[in-house]
Amino acid sequence: MHKRIALMKKVASYEVPKQFKARGIYPFFREISSPQAPLVTLNGKEVVMFGSNNYLGLTMHPEVKKASIEAVERYGTGCAGSRFLNGNLDIHRKLEEELAELVGKESALVFSTGFQTNLGIISSLVSREEYVVTDSLDHASIIDGARLSFGKKVNFKHNDMVDLARCLGNLPPGKGTLIVVDGIFSMEGDIAKLPEIAALSTKFGAALMVDDSHGIGVLGKNGAGTSDYFGLTENVHIIMGTFSKSLAAIGGFVAADADTIEYLKHFSRPLIFSASMPPANVAAVRAALRIIKQEPERIGRLWANTEKMKQGLEQL
Ligand SMILES: Cc1ncc(COP(=O)(O)O)c(C=O)c1O
Repeated sequence: MHKRIALMKKVASYEVPKQFKARGIYPFFREISSPQAPLVTLNGKEVVMFGSNNYLGLTMHPEVKKASIEAVERYGTGCAGSRFLNGNLDIHRKLEEELAELVGKESALVFSTGFQTNLGIISSLVSREEYVVTDSLDHASIIDGARLSFGKKVNFKHNDMVDLARCLGNLPPGKGTLIVVDGIFSMEGDIAKLPEIAALSTKFGAALMVDDSHGIGVLGKNGAGTSDYFGLTENVHIIMGTFSKSLAAIGGFVAADADTIEYLKHFSRPLIFSASMPPANVAAVRAALRIIKQEPERIGRLWANTEKMKQGLEQL
């Protein structure tokens, strides 16, 4: 099909997934027919789930589910528009206040996914003739946010402070610069060297943003994240997070000083031109935040499980 259309030729000739499927070892898009729990049903068989981001096991928590169902009863299933216009609910604002308090910033703003949050922050903050400096193993949404901005892109070697200093030192002094790192790196699991990165951001007058998708609910007081864990909340100018991991839903947020949030509200195209987070998800995240505070043992259990798994693998 479409073989005579030039653009479609590459599609028709893409054989790799077919080859893996034929050998019975294709690992993607596997269908689960049960909740996202420690045990899931895969092709009718119960298996242990090691690939999930449901770090605190909240996706099946009765209070999270109840809050979500009640929000549907009260607000319906969707907002039918963007935050900017008709789709702005009182519970969006309440969630933002709770998130700002959790991470220790003045203000916060929620987006419909974490991916969109990174696109929205970076593309609107970094203008022409400004710089975005990224770690080589930053998440794809950070890389794409940088690509979407009109600024210049600079990449430093993963968690390599000598290389970061070299990159910053090569930039023209006084130019707007944003350094963006993952708090906990999504694939490697290592933590950003925030004390050194914050010191370099101060030295070179660059703004610092941490994508804490994997740090929220995991590190810091009440799961406040990597910046709190290092006692560097003041030095990290912009904290970003997602709701699709510890917070049992979907959506994302940015927290910063009130001026930055006000600016993003009026310049961030993925916020302005996309429908807002559905009520069920907003309510689920608010309930998840309450439970994290009420049941701090969940974070303790996560770390005990992590340690057990790590030790077991090392022994093997
Ligand atoms: C570090 C990081 N940032 C952003 C995202 C995107 O988040 P979401 O799933 O909410 O779009 C992810 C999810 O994979 C992530 O791991």
